Amino acid sequence: MELVIAVTGASGAILGVKFVERSHKLGIKINLIFSEWGEKTLRAESGEFPQNIVKDGVKLFDNNDLLAPFSSGSYPFDGMVIIPCSMNTLSKIAYGAADDLITRTASVALKERRKLILVTRETPLSLIHLENMVKVTRAGAVILPPVLTFYHFPKTIDDMVDYVIGKVLDQFNVKHDLFKRWNKRR
Ligand SMILES: Cc1cc2nc3c(=O)[nH]c(=O)nc-3n(C[C@H](O)[C@H](O)[C@H](O)COP(=O)(O)O)c2cc1C
Repeated sequence: MELVIAVTGASGAILGVKFVERSHKLGIKINLIFSEWGEKTLRAESGEFPQNIVKDGVKLFDNNDLLAPFSSGSYPFDGMVIIPCSMNTLSKIAYGAADDLITRTASVALKERRKLILVTRETPLSLIHLENMVKVTRAGAVILPPVLTFYHFPKTIDDMVDYVIGKVLDQFNVKHDLFKRWNKRR
């Protein structure tokens, strides 16, 4: 499986970083893009730089490089995950903007009917945010916010992050053991 992962300027760059780590370990081929504010948020929240989180086999692309292969629907990637996804990027996707590699790839995923998962992070949400979420959902995207969850008995922030990553991987039917699934009779 080959995915395009984008990290945009919403809080929670760690979600993107951990998603790359976990999915790379599971053998998923990854093409990674940071928006300018995704990169700045990563630095603000962790002191890290995108180049430092790139493992062997993970390809990092410039968000201005519209010549990247998956900028075209003819390149057969399996789907895209924007994690975290800012309200700015959400609105651009909702209105069909495709002026950088992240929004162009999202637009390609929608037109080719491939999976597009948006891990949207903002709170509270305005009517504009909610309407944009409805718009992209109608076009085929999945809105998967990183919400707090307790039924898997998290003990650490990593447990919370792994839960969100696991929920994204579920969308691609990837087998993982990142969280304990609910089973009332356990
Ligand atoms: C520290 C920090 C945290 C931010 N958190 C959010 C957020 O959670 N959600 C959001 O939509 N925007 C957030 N923003 C604002 C976005 O970074 C800003 O709208 C930016 O234009 C997004 O650009 P992008 O979509 O190209 O990444 C944050 C900005 C900073 C500096």
